[in-house]
Amino acid sequence: MKIAMIAALGNNRELGLNNQMLWHISEDFKHFKKTTTGHTLLMGRKTYESIGRPLPGRTTLILTRDSNYEQPGTYVVHSFEEAIEYCQSKGEEILFIAGGGEIYSQAFEKNLCDLLYLSYVDFSGEADTYFPTFDESKFELIDLKEFSATEKTPFWKLKVLKLVS
Ligand SMILES: NC(=O)c1ccc[n+]([C@@H]2O[C@H](COP(=O)([O-])OP(=O)(O)OC[C@H]3O[C@@H](n4cnc5c(N)ncnc54)[C@H](OP(=O)(O)O)[C@@H]3O)[C@@H](O)[C@H]2O)c1
Repeated sequence: MKIAMIAALGNNRELGLNNQMLWHISEDFKHFKKTTTGHTLLMGRKTYESIGRPLPGRTTLILTRDSNYEQPGTYVVHSFEEAIEYCQSKGEEILFIAGGGEIYSQAFEKNLCDLLYLSYVDFSGEADTYFPTFDESKFELIDLKEFSATEKTPFWKLKVLKLVS
């Protein structure tokens, strides 16, 4: 089973503020939906609460240290290992780690990721959650798409990176 991380980050690695996203780029949402539909998402409890519902067409795993935590329509896990075992037991081909900052950091520390889907957004502004720095030399670029700015949305580009084997 492959493990992928999917994130959108600003010029200074900004991810979020006050448990909210920093921009609304419909093309990026479409990319997220298309990439993850039919698969399983693993997200931290704070990210889940910011979204507030399970995303349709996907299985949602919520990571929390709270042994009593429950959310309808989701599975609650208490470690990365439990999430991975869950997906393996279901015969999943890929698990998407969907944030937030704490979860991305730990996934890098544990060297879990085979693939990175990173949307780089031309946004600089206030944030309280950041995407971690990581050793980019361990990954090779396998896809790059660029999206022009519009009246409503900034320029952004999608990079897909694969772990060098
Ligand atoms: N731009 C993007 O692509 C993107 C994507 C996702 C999220 N975000 C943004 O990121 C922000 C949220 O990120 P965040 O870093 O504050 O929180 P988070 O990573 O979403 O969640 C943190 C929570 O996860 C649980 N957790 C963390 N490590 C754990 C472990 N090893 N075992 C068990 N549980 C663990 C804990 O929950 P408990 O406290 O319940 O124990 C912790 O409080 C929001 O602003 C959101 O909008 C942005």
